Amino acid sequence: MNYLTIALAKGRLGNESIKAFQKIGLGNSIDPTSRKLIFSDKENNISYIFVKPSDVVTYVQNGVADLGIVGKDILLESNANVYEILDLGFGKCKFSIAGIKNQGIYRKDEVLKVATKYPETTKQYFKERQQKIEIIKLNGSVELAPLVGLSDVIVDLVETGNTLKANGLQVIEDMFDISARLIVNRVSYRFKYDQIQNIAEKLERSLMKSD
Ligand code: PRP
Ligand code: MG
Repeated sequence: MNYLTIALAKGRLGNESIKAFQKIGLGNSIDPTSRKLIFSDKENNISYIFVKPSDVVTYVQNGVADLGIVGKDILLESNANVYEILDLGFGKCKFSIAGIKNQGIYRKDEVLKVATKYPETTKQYFKERQQKIEIIKLNGSVELAPLVGLSDVIVDLVETGNTLKANGLQVIEDMFDISARLIVNRVSYRFKYDQIQNIAEKLERSLMKSD
């Protein structure tokens, strides 16, 4: 049996990913309360590594990890050269444009100021709609930007809508449905196909049951 390395995100998505693996009898070597970043499961020949959500793609693309679980938002933004083989159905939210009121965002010849953590996805989206924009790249608390006049609107993830509501913002347009995806390194998928497919099928079956 080949050795597999699986990259998981630290935080909320990581915890759901651990649960998904535990449901199929894997991931029992992981202690989510520990500060350790690597857990080996010698019995099943698997190592789990815990990285920043946006770095999961980097580890998988470079082949340091064979598999990873990452949000579709990060895949869209990174344009990564990996296979996305399964929609895991958890970590569901929406990529949305939001603002102070449900204002018109498509303005002929006028530049719309957009604050976001996701400049590439945002640029592409508005380019396809021929709307000129200026991107204001932030690293978090994006909802603040329209409130203090830094931007006209924001592009961000909306899950419960609580953050928007608490800051008096509204969704203007939904862009994409987001959820957790199982990604695979291209070379690993060829050389460790049976093992990877076996895990993917078990995850798919167990997630279907829990829906
Ligand atoms: C995320 C996202 C939204 C919020 C959406 O922020 O950027 O702000 O969660 O969730 P909700 O609709 O359930 O309120 P996060 O908490 O990760 O913080 P950050 O943006 O400051 O990084
Ligand atoms: Mg936020």
